[in-house]
Amino acid sequence: MRISVIGCGYLGVVHAAALTELGHDVVGIDVDARKIQLLSAAHPPFFEPGLPEVLTSAMASGRLRFSTDIADAHGSQVHFLAVGTPQLAGSYAADLTYVNAAIDALLPQLSEGDLVVGKSTVPVGTAGRLAGLIEASGSGARLAWNPEFLREGFAVKDTLAPDRLVYGVGRVAVPGGRVARSERIETSSPGLDTAARSAPGLLDQHAVDILNEVYAKAVASGTPVVVTDYATAELVKVAANAFLATKISFINAMAEIAEVTGADVTQLADAIGYDTRIGRRFLNAGVGFGGGCLPKDIRAFAARADELGRGESVAFLKEVDAINLRRRQRVVDLVLEALNEEPHLKKVAVLGLAFKPNSDDVRDSPALDVAVQLHGRGATVVATDPEAIANASRLHPQLTFVADHIEALTDADVVVLVTEWAAYRELDPAALRARVRNPVIVDARNCLDATAWRAAGWTYLGLGRP
Ligand code: UDX
Repeated sequence: MRISVIGCGYLGVVHAAALTELGHDVVGIDVDARKIQLLSAAHPPFFEPGLPEVLTSAMASGRLRFSTDIADAHGSQVHFLAVGTPQLAGSYAADLTYVNAAIDALLPQLSEGDLVVGKSTVPVGTAGRLAGLIEASGSGARLAWNPEFLREGFAVKDTLAPDRLVYGVGRVAVPGGRVARSERIETSSPGLDTAARSAPGLLDQHAVDILNEVYAKAVASGTPVVVTDYATAELVKVAANAFLATKISFINAMAEIAEVTGADVTQLADAIGYDTRIGRRFLNAGVGFGGGCLPKDIRAFAARADELGRGESVAFLKEVDAINLRRRQRVVDLVLEALNEEPHLKKVAVLGLAFKPNSDDVRDSPALDVAVQLHGRGATVVATDPEAIANASRLHPQLTFVADHIEALTDADVVVLVTEWAAYRELDPAALRARVRNPVIVDARNCLDATAWRAAGWTYLGLGRP
């Protein structure tokens, strides 16, 4: 199939390369000329394991190209919207500027039978509104919403072999207006755009067929497909991220209780995680979640629920956010305590800047936040990260960065491990003991062997651990 992907960020680039790998003919479009120049030379503009290989092979196939010109979307049968929906400045709501601009630019390029497919995470009701715009344009194109669940660090794998596919599709009128009862759409949701509650009809099978063709390989291998309406598809994405964020904040709340009772949250997580109804994944207590998705998605969800008059239904997400942010403060406080509240002229080595390992992404990164706060308190912060220094130094040039973690921790008064890169998890406490001025380590990801570090003469401070 001929496919366009509008927006070449973490999501769009991986999606475009993966679609080419699946046999399609793809054009990736972005307004950022520098990004397009890099991509056209098969250079990913960000770090993602496995992406350089897929991108190189996709470019070599001659079926993937990149462009700044939206007119290059013309002639594609499917148009994926993969632009960002960041947090709006001065508000918790999502900023839809890029989604709106992409649709405005795309409308004149659409032809009869085309399918526009939203992948961006949007407030519920957006797809219905966009479907109305597409319908009003008279192009004969249609819209589907197909949320993306990829994790940075595993993006290529998650895109080629997803856990599930969700197709949110529109309703098509039934001749004679007769609609099966189970297919009737809710028409009284408050606050939703009228297009989202369009006339009753059957789910758009044309859109389902096209998406099944796009994802033919995953569908054939038995990947579960959920075919639903726009609102459900939009909500699936934010509900999934809200659940994950809640799970992390739950265990971090337990860490807070563990800290005043002498309990060990890592053992507690193991013990409750053996219950298969709970599960051990996403129960790692530490400095909390960050990144370009979880924090802004739970805020945007709460803001949208407020608009819909259902703020109380997800009011707990504000608590989830607050617990998460308190953990960053806890790490800063542990470091300051270790420095006897006298951070001036003391060297703090910060190991990690990315919001998680195997990524160079520092958006809402707890690690970078901790480094900035400690610098603000007067400590001499020397930060390091295997991949994220360039992004971090662009945002916070006031910090000192070094590429080598051994250099970062040499003569340190406190070492803080804030992103659990493999290279940091495997540090040898005995060998490092003589390098630092004071052997104090704050393990903000609870990823080190406390016993081994203590045995090597270190003061080990974890989160929610005695
Ligand atoms: C997330 C969702 O997992 C993905 O499905 C969605 O499409 C986008 O948002 P991502 O942002 O790549 O993906 O990161 P994820 O692996 O979910 O981690 C998010 C944050 O939670 C990281 O900062 C990570 O360090 C933190 N985390 C994760 C914990 O603090 N504890 C855990 O147990 C797990």
